[in-house]
Amino acid sequence: MTDPETRIASLREQLRVWGAEYYQADAPSVTDSEYDRAFQELLGLEAEYPEFAAADSPTQRVGAAPLASFPSVVHRMPMLSLDNAFNHEDMNDFDRRVCERAGVDSVRYVCEPKLDGIAVSVVYESGKLAQAATRGDGQRGEGITENIRTIDVIPLRLIGDDLPGYLEVRGEVFMPRSGFEVLNRRTLLDGGRPFANPRNAAAGSLRQLDSRITRRRPLAFCAYALGVVESDGPLPDSHDEAMQWLKTLGLPVSELRELATGAAACEAYYHRLAAQRDSLDYDIDGIVYKVDDFSLQRRLGAVSRAPRWAIARKFPAQEEMTQVLDVEFQVGRTGAVTPVARLEPVFVGGVTVSNATLHNADEVSRLNLQIGDTVVIRRAGDVIPQVVSVVTERRPANTRSVVFPGNCPACSSTLVRAEGEAVWRCEAGLVCPAQQRASVEHFVSRRAMDIDGLGEKIVEQLIAEGLVTNVADLFELDVATLAGLERMGQRSAQNLVNAIAASRETTLARFIYSLGIREVGEATARQLADYFANLEALMSASTAQLQEVDDVGPVVADHIHAFFQQGRNRETVARLVNLGIHWPAPAAPQAGEGLPLEGQIWVVTGKLESLSREQAEERLRGLGARVSSSVSGKTTAVVAGPGAGSKLKKAEQLGVEVIDEAALLERLEKDTS
Ligand code: IVH
Repeated sequence: MTDPETRIASLREQLRVWGAEYYQADAPSVTDSEYDRAFQELLGLEAEYPEFAAADSPTQRVGAAPLASFPSVVHRMPMLSLDNAFNHEDMNDFDRRVCERAGVDSVRYVCEPKLDGIAVSVVYESGKLAQAATRGDGQRGEGITENIRTIDVIPLRLIGDDLPGYLEVRGEVFMPRSGFEVLNRRTLLDGGRPFANPRNAAAGSLRQLDSRITRRRPLAFCAYALGVVESDGPLPDSHDEAMQWLKTLGLPVSELRELATGAAACEAYYHRLAAQRDSLDYDIDGIVYKVDDFSLQRRLGAVSRAPRWAIARKFPAQEEMTQVLDVEFQVGRTGAVTPVARLEPVFVGGVTVSNATLHNADEVSRLNLQIGDTVVIRRAGDVIPQVVSVVTERRPANTRSVVFPGNCPACSSTLVRAEGEAVWRCEAGLVCPAQQRASVEHFVSRRAMDIDGLGEKIVEQLIAEGLVTNVADLFELDVATLAGLERMGQRSAQNLVNAIAASRETTLARFIYSLGIREVGEATARQLADYFANLEALMSASTAQLQEVDDVGPVVADHIHAFFQQGRNRETVARLVNLGIHWPAPAAPQAGEGLPLEGQIWVVTGKLESLSREQAEERLRGLGARVSSSVSGKTTAVVAGPGAGSKLKKAEQLGVEVIDEAALLERLEKDTS
């Protein structure tokens, strides 16, 4: 049997290697349970033999007692910042300067994401984590060794033999988006104030004097540079080699690093990463280009605070500050009243933004927002602009608080708030001009009745002039009336009348969707059309029947039922049909010619072997069956594969026929031939 000291040493080394594999490559060579077993064994041995305790053991990340303040740490080599390039031109200029100074035609760069976190320096002495510090003013920073030790991805001891006597690694501490969301949810539950973004959360977590708090924060790290290195062994000659070396020592480096020669190749990398930006689990605010060759880096040197051999190419900012000029209340199609911030226009995420939704009263109080405040606006990807936070430090003296109206701003009827809902609603329905307008806009939209040429401005005029109060009125408009509207000539009026007429030929699914029933989106409309096949059946369906349809739960069933109970809605539907809106009739089974499974409802559940579930459903539909995702008394048969659970149980309880895949294949065979 090995002696405890040797066993402890080998467990520690093993855990370090496994840990590095896990964090760096996302490719662990052992299972979690194997790792846990070794970890537990080490914990046990360390408890039994305290004489072999070591600060660099993988078990020592629990966080230490709170500090009174952070010690000041002098950087042996200054921590520089980077110059910025805001467009391709700036990058071209940078590349030209580098080439001129170096006296070469082209230069090889390393391209890396610019992580949006906090710069830190981590020092290893003979392989052991000895000290860590923030950048501070570049000359001296704050010693945050205890906090850095709590971050799982940062090794407490480097891997391998021949470790350098002194190795300073520089990199970014950041918080992955997924961890940030969990942290904020937890903070809210505990009644705390959530962080505005992952960067602030990372900074706040590193600034804790009590490292046990830092320990609970989901922080990560990525190394991107060497600092002071003292070693007897050979050292890397280029940045790319340096990163490979750090990786072998167990430090995380960017997996998105690439080499590129010349400015055009760098630009191509920029566009590739910009396209990937939203799908990454961490925020990046640009790309860093670095001259790869260390000897060339040394020749180029640095000016004041930034090296001449590197540059940060910034993405358009996704967050900007601007002022809230006013808060208005918008009434949507379903009567929901939404506060909207009118903003001093600001360029953010590549577009000019002058409005941002504030969602509801709860959100306004969460933000503690007042009119006149400076706010942080965020627009990422195609997501609608959001107000992230209020910059309270910049609050002027004369702000006004946001007062929620008690009455509908469009029709003055009293607003109501359903229990448990955050939203106030106008319940006037289509009597309210704002709801009229929103419902007409929805009715004509591309995925609904798809009426070309009926833009917001025209709809607004039609409602304001009282020409349209109900979607059915659209079909009674004539050329003379339309030609009288602003910015509308005889020709466009004629085109519009033609477009309206053409839209009368539609599908039942589109028609149901266009009615704008609460919570009935395109997919649900399609399911309803498939299930009921004709409008009358849908209009007279009970809530129980409605719930037979896939994806229709009790709430949606209530909305649909209530919609068709209302006299006004029934009238509108009848008028629309009388005005000629039509869709293909459902294929009626012809005597002797009907499909074999016509009128039957099938459910497929569990795992199938020779067919995918989708294929099985497709074949069943091809034979005329309706395929549902839930089992009810109306279900004809259930196809159950291995792993079938609640649906199989329900079928058995209800006495519905259950068959396996082999029997299904037989049936399909028989019915198809
Ligand atoms: S290199 C001398 N590489 O950006 C070069 N910096 O504006 C020093 N940053 O303070 C920096 N990702 O916090 C470098 N891949 C990366 C980076 C990166 C983020 C941050 C770093 C630095 C700031 C400079």
